[in-house]
Amino acid sequence: MKVVVSVGGSVLAPDLEPDRVADYAAAVQSLDEAGHTLGAVVGGGPTAREYIGTARELGANEIELDQLGIAVTRLNARLLIAALGGRAASPPAESYDEGRQAIRRGDIPVLGGIVAAQTTDAVAAAFAEYVDADLLVYATSVDGVYDADPKQDGDATRFDQLPAGELVDIIADMEMDAGSNAPVDLLAAKVIQRSGIRTVVLDGTDPNRLVRAVEDGEFDGTEITPEG
Ligand code: UTP
Repeated sequence: MKVVVSVGGSVLAPDLEPDRVADYAAAVQSLDEAGHTLGAVVGGGPTAREYIGTARELGANEIELDQLGIAVTRLNARLLIAALGGRAASPPAESYDEGRQAIRRGDIPVLGGIVAAQTTDAVAAAFAEYVDADLLVYATSVDGVYDADPKQDGDATRFDQLPAGELVDIIADMEMDAGSNAPVDLLAAKVIQRSGIRTVVLDGTDPNRLVRAVEDGEFDGTEITPEG
C-alpha cells in the first residue's frame, strides 16, 4: 500500500526529545520493511509557534511568518531523516516533484512546508494526491475529527466516519470560529474531497497507532470516506 503520513510537529518534536523521533522513525521503518511505499510530511509544532510569535512581535508580515514556519518544519523533517538513516531521501524534499522522485527511486521522502499561506496539513493532502496514495494518515495530537473543538467544548462528539464533503463543511465552520483548532485545515479538507483518498485522523502520540492503522486497518480516530 502507498501511504502518506502527516506527523504534526507537536507529535514528533514537542520537546526535541530524541527518543520520540526515534520511535517515529522505527514505526515508519517497520511499515517500510512490511513492503509499504511511504512518504512523510512533518509539521512545525511548538518550535514553529515560538519563532512565529517572536517574529510577529518584531513586525514580520504574515508571509515572512509563514517562511519562518516552513523553515522550522524542514528542521523537524531533518530530525526524522536523521533517525531514518539511509532509508530517507536527504535533504527534505522542498517540492512535490522532489518528493515523488524520491518515491520512484525507492527512498522515503520527508517533506516539511512547501509554500506560504497554508500548513503541512495541505502539503500532506496534495502530496498524497500527487503520488496516488492509497491512504493518507494524519497523526495529530487529537484523536479524530469532532463536531466542535473538544478542547473548548466538553460536549463535542467525535465522528468515527465522515464523508469528505461533510469534513469540508465542519472545518469551514470551525475556521470561522476564532481560536478554534481544526484537526486539519480547510485546504487539506478540500484536497481530500476532490482526490477521494481514504484518510484517517488519529492520535499519533504513540506511533504504534500509525502502524496498526496501516497494517491492520485498526484505529481509534476518524476515517474520512470518499464520496460517490
Ligand atoms: P504546521 O503545518 O506545523 O502548522 O506549519 P500548524 O498546523 O499551525 O501547526 P500544528 O499542526 O498546530 O502544530 C507551521 C507553520 O509553517 C507555515 C505556516 O505558517 C504554519 O502555521 N507553513 C507550513 C506554510 O506557510 N506553508 C506550508 O506549506 C507549511
